[in-house]
Order: sequence, then structure tokens, then C-alpha cells
Amino acid sequence: MAVGIFDSGLGGLTVLDAVSKRLPDIPFVYFGDNAHTPYGVRDADDVYDLTTTGVAHLFDAGCDLVILACNTASAAALRRMQEQWVPEDKRVLGVFVPLIEALTERQWGDNSPPREVAVKHVALFATPATVRSRAFQRELAFRAIGVDVEAQPCGGVVDAIEDGDMILAEALVRSHVEALKRRMPTPEAAVLGCTHYPIMEEVFQDALGPDVTVYSQASLVADSLADYLDRHPDKLGAGAEARFLTTGDPKSVANKATQFLRRKIEFDPI
Ligand code: DGL
Repeated sequence: MAVGIFDSGLGGLTVLDAVSKRLPDIPFVYFGDNAHTPYGVRDADDVYDLTTTGVAHLFDAGCDLVILACNTASAAALRRMQEQWVPEDKRVLGVFVPLIEALTERQWGDNSPPREVAVKHVALFATPATVRSRAFQRELAFRAIGVDVEAQPCGGVVDAIEDGDMILAEALVRSHVEALKRRMPTPEAAVLGCTHYPIMEEVFQDALGPDVTVYSQASLVADSLADYLDRHPDKLGAGAEARFLTTGDPKSVANKATQFLRRKIEFDPI
């Protein structure tokens, strides 16, 4: 009954941590494409090819449902995968929709027409590829009217986090927040649209100030996954074992993952 969690690298561990706390009886199989991270500087075809290859490994590991715990893959590849590639008996879900449902005060899975919502000015922080795709604005427009979104491509932050250079990551986050604030001085809400960024959530909040509500995906994805599995229990795949898979060097990926999650993690090579 395994569920797959896909990311380009370590960022999806923020989602894995939240879903495994919310659904402790489900074995999750994590796939980190560490050999090819970051995705955020790649073009859409490249992200599509890498994402389908990674998700196929998760299907092989006994997962019928895979969460793309990567906004870049969700933004650049998910729609094409759902239209052309995902087999009938499998599901691949992204991480944008739960975030937007929370921002627009909807129930999980509420696909009713767009309506006015309380929040009017939203800052989006994401990778360059996610910002370029405009997927966030598209999904938001399906659900809300009159929301102004200012997007900041946060170049360099994912590399710094993957390298474990938190001093650089913090400096970059502060400079990206300053750049955004020059264009939108008083956002009401800020969306951390990359699964690596919850690791820097306190820095984002500090740089944005206490009046800005920061939306971070991990717990929202966990709540919406629990609701989805209640409605679709048949999507629990045959896999029985929690595992961590990587295309990178398993030892060094495991060391960094252990630091991130503050518990011992072993990765198997692909
Ligand atoms: N953590 C991923 C995201 O949410 C990927 C970042 C990257 O590989 O550039 O976008």
C-alpha cells in the first residue's frame, strides 16, 4: 500500500516528513533525482523527461499514486504527464492545488467556479522554471477572481540548500524578498512555491515581516493527501516497504537527508 513521493533532490523531504506524520501507517517511497538537481534552471522538455523517468521508478517500486513534491515538476511537466503518459490505473498529483485551495479558502477538491477571496496581493517565491511556467497564476485563476500575484524567481536558493550552505541560502532569500518588496511593498500573503523553501521558512517570515501570512506546502499537502486517500482507497499501491531512492551518491545524499530530517535515513541507489 505504498505511496510515492518524487522530488528533484532533498526538498521533497519536507513533504515526506509531513505526510508520514499525518499518515503513519502508510509506507512512503521517496525518490530524489539528486544527480540532476536543480530542475529550476532546466527547460520544460528536460523537466518532463527527468520527471517521467523518476516517476516510472516509483511505479516499479509498487506505488500506484505518486505525489510530485516538486513545484518545478508540477508546473512544467504534470499537465502533459496526465494528458499523455500516466497509465489508467495510476495517479500522479502535484503540490500546487492544495496550496491554492488553502489560499482561496476552499475545501479539498472543490472545483466550483472562481470567486472573490479575502486575499488580494500575493507574493510567490519559486524557482525560475516555476515562475516562467505561470502555472500558479493559471491554477489560481480557476479558483479566485481579482488576486494580484507578484512572482520572484529565487535563483541559487535550491543549489545552496542542496550544498548545505545555509549562510548563502539565507543571504539569497533576503535579497529575493527585498527584490519582490520593491515591486509589491505590502503583500498580504506569501507562497513558498518550492518544496526546498520550508527549510528557510523562518528567514522568509523574518524578511517579509509579521503582517505577511506565509503559506508553506508540506502540511497542506499532507491534509489534502489524507482526504484524497479517504476518497480513493484503491490508490494505495502494492508496495509494502518505506524506502528512499536516489540517482545521486547514496552516502552523501543520506548524510544531508539525515541532517534535514534529524533522523537517520539510508538511501538506495537507482
Ligand atoms: N524542490 C523543487 C521545487 O519545488 C525543485 C527545485 C529544483 O530542483 O530546482 O520546485
